[in-house]
Amino acid sequence: MLSATYHFPTGFLWGTATSSHQVEGSNSNNNWSAWEAQEGRIRLGHKAGLACDWWGGRWKEDFDRAAESSQNAHRLSLEWSRIQPRPDVWDEDAIDHYRQMLRGLHQRGMTPMVTLHHFTDPLWLTDLGGWENDETPTLFEKFTLKVVDALKEYCQNWVTINEPNVYTVMGYLFKAFPPAKNDLKACFAVLKNMVRGHAAAYRAIHRLQPNASVGIALNYQSFKPTHTWLPFDRALAGFIHNNFNAAFPNALMTGKFKFAFKSIDLPEARSTQDFLGINYYTRQMAAFNLLKKGNLFIHLTFPKDAEMSDTGHIANVPEGFFEAMKFARGYGLPIYITENGIEDADDDLRPRYLIQHVHQVWRAVNFNWPIKGYFHWSLVDNFEWERGWTQRFGLWGLDVDTQARIRHTSVDVYEAICRENGIASTMVQQYAPSIYNQLFPE
Ligand code: BGC
Repeated sequence: MLSATYHFPTGFLWGTATSSHQVEGSNSNNNWSAWEAQEGRIRLGHKAGLACDWWGGRWKEDFDRAAESSQNAHRLSLEWSRIQPRPDVWDEDAIDHYRQMLRGLHQRGMTPMVTLHHFTDPLWLTDLGGWENDETPTLFEKFTLKVVDALKEYCQNWVTINEPNVYTVMGYLFKAFPPAKNDLKACFAVLKNMVRGHAAAYRAIHRLQPNASVGIALNYQSFKPTHTWLPFDRALAGFIHNNFNAAFPNALMTGKFKFAFKSIDLPEARSTQDFLGINYYTRQMAAFNLLKKGNLFIHLTFPKDAEMSDTGHIANVPEGFFEAMKFARGYGLPIYITENGIEDADDDLRPRYLIQHVHQVWRAVNFNWPIKGYFHWSLVDNFEWERGWTQRFGLWGLDVDTQARIRHTSVDVYEAICRENGIASTMVQQYAPSIYNQLFPE
């Protein structure tokens, strides 16, 4: 049997990603805590509750777990509603809590990447109309100035906004996230203001920290036509790609925001990315369906023959990941994989998914595409938004009642990858023998 190792460049970042509301627990002042209190919003009536109790201090043990298993980076997010509980109040203790966390990463030899906005908004911002309000970019800039000034000693890599496309589509088109609207005009307004908010934050960060590296985390989905022979489906897949995947980063490159047949000049957004963050999970097939008027006639399904995750949320399509990196490369910027993972409570598919997807990153790196790091979603099971605790993305499982962490085999797999800075054939033989021949053909 062939024995070989697929190496990554020296200095490659290997980490996991988390977000404040999903891991901290005890958040009570943002749009999601309010949403969870409403009946019927979250599967099985779940609530974030204590989550992984990071606000209670359990980040320390989880950072230990990450560091002990050879990760050298971590992506986390700041909870705006804690730092600025009211428009005229800054909570210095909350800022200090994040300072301790970032110091904690450094002490463990891990490079931090910090997200400023990951789906949650302070309730006072929601009351002002959230991101539909044209004043919100300025409020976001104020928040950015405050936190970056306070934390710049400990962080250089900033993600301004996580998945503006998912935030908008889920909240303003598909009614799955707050405020559960189905309103294309609102989608346009929210995305436009997120472009403006990003641009303002980008400049604010660079004023405070000229050598900072600033970008977004974009959710990239590989869209294909359900029926390749149907021009409608082909056009639709292209339309969704352009609007969901490309519209936002294009605006940050060109200063022109084009979305759903509308276009607007936002010159302040031109050239406001130092890197592009890609969150990739899956591929979806698009079909034109006259019955789906509320969904812009879009009917999405997973590829017919794909292997599906635990709860049917993700199709395991590693080639779609390669496509995502190829897309990202078109922007001529350094690329970080800011999220990639799968919900898999019993951890039988994750070891293979992980190896298959990291293998795609290796392929991309070998074309000299500038991929600088990979952050797996996620370190520990955490609160999965409208899906509550029904989906488990953690390398470590979580017993929500006892806070016990459950070490999955995937911890060993990822540790082996991080330690080796690559994929060795022996790892594949041990953890994912069914793909051995595919990865290491004789
Ligand atoms: C989000 C995460 C989420 C993950 C898995 C991504 O779209 O950024 O917050 O937990 O998907 O559902």
